Amino acid sequence: MTLKKLTGLAGLVALILTPGAFAVDTAVRLIVDADKPGHAVSPTLHGIFFEDINYGADGGLYAELVQNRSFEHKESLYSWATVSLDGDGSISVETADPLNASNPHYLRLTVRTPGKGFGVANYGFGGIAVKQGENYLFAVRARADAAFKGKLVAVLEDETGRPLGECKIEGLSGQWQKFEGTLKSSGTALHARLVVLATAAGRVDLDVASLFPENSWKQRRNGLRADLVQMLVDLKPAFMRFPGGCIVEGNDLPNRYEWKDTIGDIAERKQNWNRWQDAMRGQTAPQYYQTYGLGFFEFFQLCEDIGAAPLPILNCGMACQYQSKQLVPLDQLDPFVQDALDLIEFANGPATSPWGAKRVAMGHPAPFNMKLLGVGNEQWGEQYFERYKIFQAALKAKHPEIQLVTTAGPGVDDASWKLAWDKFRSGTPADIVDEHYYRPPQWFLENATRYDAQDRAGPKIFAGEFAAHDTSLRKPSLRAAISEAAFMTGLVRNSDVVAMSSYAPLFAKADAWQWAPDLIWCDNTRAYGTGSYHVQALFSRNRPDVVLPLVVDAPPVPLSPAINASTSGAKALPAYRPASLPALYAVAGRDNRANEIVIFIANPYAEAKAATIELRGVTQLASAAKAIVLTSASPDDENSFEAPMKIAPREETVAISGTSLARTFPAYSLTVLRLKPVN
Ligand code: AHR
Repeated sequence: MTLKKLTGLAGLVALILTPGAFAVDTAVRLIVDADKPGHAVSPTLHGIFFEDINYGADGGLYAELVQNRSFEHKESLYSWATVSLDGDGSISVETADPLNASNPHYLRLTVRTPGKGFGVANYGFGGIAVKQGENYLFAVRARADAAFKGKLVAVLEDETGRPLGECKIEGLSGQWQKFEGTLKSSGTALHARLVVLATAAGRVDLDVASLFPENSWKQRRNGLRADLVQMLVDLKPAFMRFPGGCIVEGNDLPNRYEWKDTIGDIAERKQNWNRWQDAMRGQTAPQYYQTYGLGFFEFFQLCEDIGAAPLPILNCGMACQYQSKQLVPLDQLDPFVQDALDLIEFANGPATSPWGAKRVAMGHPAPFNMKLLGVGNEQWGEQYFERYKIFQAALKAKHPEIQLVTTAGPGVDDASWKLAWDKFRSGTPADIVDEHYYRPPQWFLENATRYDAQDRAGPKIFAGEFAAHDTSLRKPSLRAAISEAAFMTGLVRNSDVVAMSSYAPLFAKADAWQWAPDLIWCDNTRAYGTGSYHVQALFSRNRPDVVLPLVVDAPPVPLSPAINASTSGAKALPAYRPASLPALYAVAGRDNRANEIVIFIANPYAEAKAATIELRGVTQLASAAKAIVLTSASPDDENSFEAPMKIAPREETVAISGTSLARTFPAYSLTVLRLKPVN
């Protein structure tokens, strides 16, 4: 049966089957032993990797609408402009007697004649998007000199200057105070601006001028974008790694991520520049900063909200080895190790402990139940292992309950990776080893079996960052997504040793990105998942509890010419290469709660493939099964804001009689079959 005929049946009923001998002439047989459960599937197998790259945090997931709210950008008035309604005055950025030492700059309005108002406007992150009828929460720290006898007015204006809503702030004194107000928007605008006006002559100082949609995720103040969090919920991630990525390392040591700067009152969080400002040639973003409004407390809270185990990664005394290569001397590592110990206390400690008390003060009396901690991002070489050993000893001595994530470097099958594994095999202790692969689609097809022979007595594997990079343009194509799906059948099959996996990076903002491909694209109002997003969601949402033996009985596919295996810059070693590729990539398991057999079948080839699926060890299958199919018309297809669901899963009911079925798997497709045994 051809694909055309299959879809001609209105996409509803696939192929009918008969038990035992089957009449369709198919080249491929997938044979599943349903009564021979193998190892348990790691419950943390599929997770997400968050990094503030591509404006993933400020301007992305973090719902703050004001950019440069604390005037801490190097270009300290970036995104701000003077507004004068027939008034006269000046604006300046000052540092004398600031709000606090972590927030040294503030804005001064010197108003000579106020007219109908003199002040400033903020243009957000490429405009402030507002919706008619919705509330926006304004907050500002302000003080004024004794001459100022007026008030502040905060106004939302659309692109034409039409006011959409306002609130008034009164009671300014010579001391810094926090003021709040609500603006209800009477209109919808994509490029609104927030105007803050003084209504009298005198001197007014402003800092941390902030505007959040009331309808943030769970309507939290200092909240996250609800639509983007929902996209994470839909991925059903078992864990979330944060805050990166290279951002953990920093370009240099002063630029590294320090979690203690990211908790407490947002006005006291010490901002930092974002190393992705200039890390990628041709994709510079000089105004990319980290307010840390989305900080470690919010990361833990997000993990809890989306049901993901938290996996924080900490700097291990090394800055980026591609950039400054700075190192903390071994005899000065103590504060770094202490940061790690304090983090465990912040996440899990009682209210009576110093760091546990800070968590409680932020509104979370219960522990966050952190069980995983990463030491360094993708570091490599002896310098890493010298530092890792110090962390490992201190952390295990105090917290043997915490599983440590150790890195094998930025790539696999190269000299750095080999050094790491030589160490693990010769006594360097490791619980979970983080491996990264940003490779062409073909690499993913060739490496679906790479863990079949992995030493089961060694450390567990964390496929911690991966994405298929399709051509030099790194297109988020269907071809890339299906190659990842093929690879992931191998992760599930080996999930006794592959404990965790995550695609990277997670978010990218249109017109503000540095790295592609990414899982979720957004602008100020919209978001969509790439084909890879749907692959991740399908694996995660259908993760079985145990693996069932599955044999692909068909002539294998010959290998195409070898691809260059090293992308890390380290000396490439002979790459892992199988003798051939399978006719279809498939893995089966059992979902115990649903009492269903789940089979993932990826066809990464250019031709549709007909196959029979034979279930052994069951006497009967329920007459209706479910098939979820992810494909599209062309391997080059991509999702976009205009066509966000071009590549999206489509569900079919499959009529079954007996214990086998025949089905055609479209070119470049992932199919998830859910079959119910009836005993
Ligand atoms: O995911 C993008 C970057 O890739 C990460 O920051 C880093 O860990 C890796 O090199």
